[in-house]
Amino acid sequence: MHTATRLALAAAALATAGAASAQASPDLRAAAYLASNCANCHGTNGRSLGAMPGLAGIPQERFVTLMRDFRDGKRQATIMHQLAKGYSDEQIALLAEFFARQPAK
Ligand code: HEC
Repeated sequence: MHTATRLALAAAALATAGAASAQASPDLRAAAYLASNCANCHGTNGRSLGAMPGLAGIPQERFVTLMRDFRDGKRQATIMHQLAKGYSDEQIALLAEFFARQPAK
């Protein structure tokens, strides 16, 4: 294939990808950014590959309860009680929506 044609195709692919991500609501993009902070331990998009509990597919309401209980010290934790303190109710709601939308497997 001609180099110029290849470049044009690559540019078209990039433009399409850009359009697709521009469709995600600003809230969901903010949520994805917040959720990336959880990936080191809970896996990309909450799909855990190891012993850590996965976050993908947790129903929104249960997620909010878990995070608030960690934050308020109502739920025993080694790490999450500290981590959860760094998130506002609004951010927890965004995270809950994001992870509920992720397929668990
Ligand atoms: C440094 C590792 C680490 C990071 C980063 C981390 N977690 Fe956790 N998470 C844990 C551990 C460990 C547990 C088990 C509870 C405990 O001991 O703290 C847990 C448990 C949870 C649970 C309960 C899951 C269940 O089914 O019981 C939720 C919800 C959760 N984390 C949400 C989050 C969110 C949201 C983020 C990002 C904002 C996050 N975690 C970032 C380590 C982490």
